Amino acid sequence: MPQERFLVTGAMGCLGAWVTKLLLDEGVDVAIFDLSDNDARLRAIIDDNDLARAKRIKADITVRGHVGAAVAGRTHVIHLAALQVPFVRADPAQGAAVNVTGTVNVFEAVREHGVEHLSYASSFAVYGHPRNYDTDVLPAGAARLPDTLYGVYKMANEDTARVFWQDDGVPSIGLRPYTVFGPLRDQGLTSQPTLSIEAAVRGEPYHIEYGGTATYQFAPDVALQFIMAAREGGEGAGVYTLGGDTVSVGDFVSIVHEVTGRSDITIGGGSLPFPGRGDDGPLLARFGVVPHTPLREAIVATAEFFEARL
Ligand SMILES: NC(=O)c1ccc[n+]([C@@H]2O[C@H](COP(=O)([O-])OP(=O)(O)OC[C@H]3O[C@@H](n4cnc5c(N)ncnc54)[C@H](O)[C@@H]3O)[C@@H](O)[C@H]2O)c1
Repeated sequence: MPQERFLVTGAMGCLGAWVTKLLLDEGVDVAIFDLSDNDARLRAIIDDNDLARAKRIKADITVRGHVGAAVAGRTHVIHLAALQVPFVRADPAQGAAVNVTGTVNVFEAVREHGVEHLSYASSFAVYGHPRNYDTDVLPAGAARLPDTLYGVYKMANEDTARVFWQDDGVPSIGLRPYTVFGPLRDQGLTSQPTLSIEAAVRGEPYHIEYGGTATYQFAPDVALQFIMAAREGGEGAGVYTLGGDTVSVGDFVSIVHEVTGRSDITIGGGSLPFPGRGDDGPLLARFGVVPHTPLREAIVATAEFFEARL
């Protein structure tokens, strides 16, 4: 097998850091691309010697030339760089530049350099408010009706992928995480369940602003799925909703209380503006095996991570 050379965009972020760790653990050649040079998340889970093997590229995903130069010579690309819901809401134009133009730049560079292994992050936010659907478990192929600009931009990414395949034969796999949780998940709308674990470990109260039911995915599992998707290659521009543990915020918090021995996490009214779960059957059908750490085990591992950092 020819040697793999990965490029990970958004590598300073939560999922990017986990992807980078897993690739370095395998001894794979990895270049990490991010506008930020704050490598605190990477250093929290990767030791200095291993991290030194990653080639660092401090560059801007919105600048076509930066992306082209980074993709040159790479065999696999995992595109995670993005602004999350609150940052897009605060600055929609910058959100579009990073999330939409940035993704177009990745597809153009991948086409130009003939990279045949691209996975990229879409999001469950391509779906809209539960009132728009007559079921709480969305079937594959349910209408995408995003209620946030973030979701609109992710939908544009999925359609960008489709047209790059249709017009230019650029293959890709898009993945739609829902609520990623676990070590390093420290920003974005759905980071609160993770932050509640951290607060409990510190012995502090925490308020999660929303209730309702959502699907939870452990960050290292999601990172591995992105690596598997990039390795898969093949034809088309498939987009897959991730499964995971579908539970209420109350049930999630009950496990946190049991695991940490604290009981002062409170929950607000309302719920996230998405249905509770999407059908992950097509993902299973394509990959056969889907990484999944059981919810309780993942919460225990997350609490241990925070304890070790106290
Ligand atoms: N975390 C979740 O629950 C979740 C759910 C669905 C989808 N996603 C998607 O998964 C991907 C990774 O999520 P995450 O939680 O790791 O996000 P994150 O916010 O932790 O990391 C995003 C990274 O992108 C980088 N970035 C931002 N603007 C950039 C630019 N102009 N050029 C280069 N880099 C830039 C940031 O510096 C950051 O390191 C994102 O595309 C996100 O939209 C995440």
